[in-house]
Amino acid sequence: MAKPRRTRDRQDYYYWKAKEMGYRSRAAFKLIQINKKFSLIKKGYWVLDLGAVPGGWSQVAVKLGANVVAVDLNPMSEIEGVEFIKGDITSPETIDMIFEFRDEFDVVMSDASPKLTGKWTIDHLRSMDLAKASFEIAERLLRRGGNFLVKIFQGEEINKYYREVAPRFRFKKFHSPQASRKRSAEIYFVGKGFKR
Ligand SMILES: C[S@@+](CC[C@H](N)C(=O)[O-])C[C@H]1O[C@@H](n2cnc3c(N)ncnc32)[C@H](O)[C@@H]1O
Repeated sequence: MAKPRRTRDRQDYYYWKAKEMGYRSRAAFKLIQINKKFSLIKKGYWVLDLGAVPGGWSQVAVKLGANVVAVDLNPMSEIEGVEFIKGDITSPETIDMIFEFRDEFDVVMSDASPKLTGKWTIDHLRSMDLAKASFEIAERLLRRGGNFLVKIFQGEEINKYYREVAPRFRFKKFHSPQASRKRSAEIYFVGKGFKR
């Protein structure tokens, strides 16, 4: 887990809490909080974790009793109960690899982030590409009635994305968990009850 760089970050409550509890990332607490509010992941569910490295979200899903398939561009050290696929979520080959392993999931979740440039519009548009790729994967692999969670860096394309994705879910909402940093542009789309 990357150490906080700035002094104020050293006081980062979730960073130290993650270390203490054996989570690989502070992001783990975002999923814990989102799941507490929206009950996306349940025991026995098959969960597809996109942009999974270092593995905090996968650890949380396993703790909740789920079976996890995790995907990332970068390698991930092993987690018991998690099948890892190294690949780019925007590439059809990766989708085929996931499909070969399992063709239906109860939950598709994506915390995938582009490499940040600090330029708001570029980061927003790159994050939109990953969010669109995540939804395309969900369209192919999410079961009827399944749940979808995706991170987006806010910007002008977000309303268009919502208009495209939201009608496919019975319940839909944008949500920012407490564990997201106050100054972060990130927000999560939560969709429940996928209409196939
Ligand atoms: C914020 S991290 C995910 C943290 C993770 N949820 C956790 O709790 O440990 C974002 C990840 O997205 C991955 N990523 C970015 N673009 C990707 C792509 N096109 N395909 C697969 N993974 C990607 C990055 O490699 C990075 O590991």
